[in-house]
Amino acid sequence: MSTVSVTAPASQRKKATTLTFRQKKERGEPITMLTAYDYPTALSMDAAGVDSILVGDSLGMVVLGYENTLPVTMEEMLHHSRAVARGAKSALLVGDMPFMSYQADVNDAVRNAGRFLKEGGMDAVKLEGGRERVDAVRAIVGAGIPVMGHLGLTPQSVNQLGGFRTQGKTAPAAKRLLDDALLLEEAGCFSMVLESVPAKLAEFISKKLSIPTIGIGAGVGCDGQVLVTHDLLGLFERFTPKFVKKYADFNGEMIRAFSEYLAEVQARQFPGAEHSVEMGDAEWLEFVEKVNK
Ligand code: KIV
Repeated sequence: MSTVSVTAPASQRKKATTLTFRQKKERGEPITMLTAYDYPTALSMDAAGVDSILVGDSLGMVVLGYENTLPVTMEEMLHHSRAVARGAKSALLVGDMPFMSYQADVNDAVRNAGRFLKEGGMDAVKLEGGRERVDAVRAIVGAGIPVMGHLGLTPQSVNQLGGFRTQGKTAPAAKRLLDDALLLEEAGCFSMVLESVPAKLAEFISKKLSIPTIGIGAGVGCDGQVLVTHDLLGLFERFTPKFVKKYADFNGEMIRAFSEYLAEVQARQFPGAEHSVEMGDAEWLEFVEKVNK
């Protein structure tokens, strides 16, 4: 049987901050991050002791059923951010800036980043891209909002990348990725997601940066790891990237539970007496008399 380490209850743990990220990197302790989009999941993650929760725009694919992340709006992100913020009290909360909320205009980028903190209850924001995002990162950080970068496979550029494919596999692409990472660090990012990047390269970049890298499909040499929770729980069956490890089969378990419920309702086995309420005999007799009068 596998053992699970027990963390202090969420109510006793100190709130994680960007400083926690920095200190964990300095101590060589891996940073744990997961995505969440709702209140009960955030409660469970906080109870498990995760360092950080990302309200990812993967919301669009794994919860809202969009083909990719491009249709996701600020309003959808804020709605789900608020739900997560109501559930998670210890984890550092990062809101993912959706497509076109920061690309067109730096002022828009600052305003939308601010909405994640003011209206969404988030502690920080994440945005995708390298050298082309340096101005936006600088402006958002300048407004006092911590920014997490995101390099490698950046799903909002899926059309430009020609699909969800590993990045940085050639020497020039790897050099460009490293340069982008250094530029984002210099612009003020407190941390950076590296998605679907060769493990060697991710480890090299992680060692070059003083800010922590959070890997997804980027090997064990990153300073932390993130996974899309619906992938980890076996809740998103449309496709599963090679880098995902399924820790549970919630889809299978949901189908089993729903089927059992249907069968019990159809056989009139549910609800049983233990799931029903009754009234006292005297009240019932009085009722019957009234009806029959
Ligand atoms: O949207 C998301 O869930 C993400 C993670 C894959 C890092 O950006």
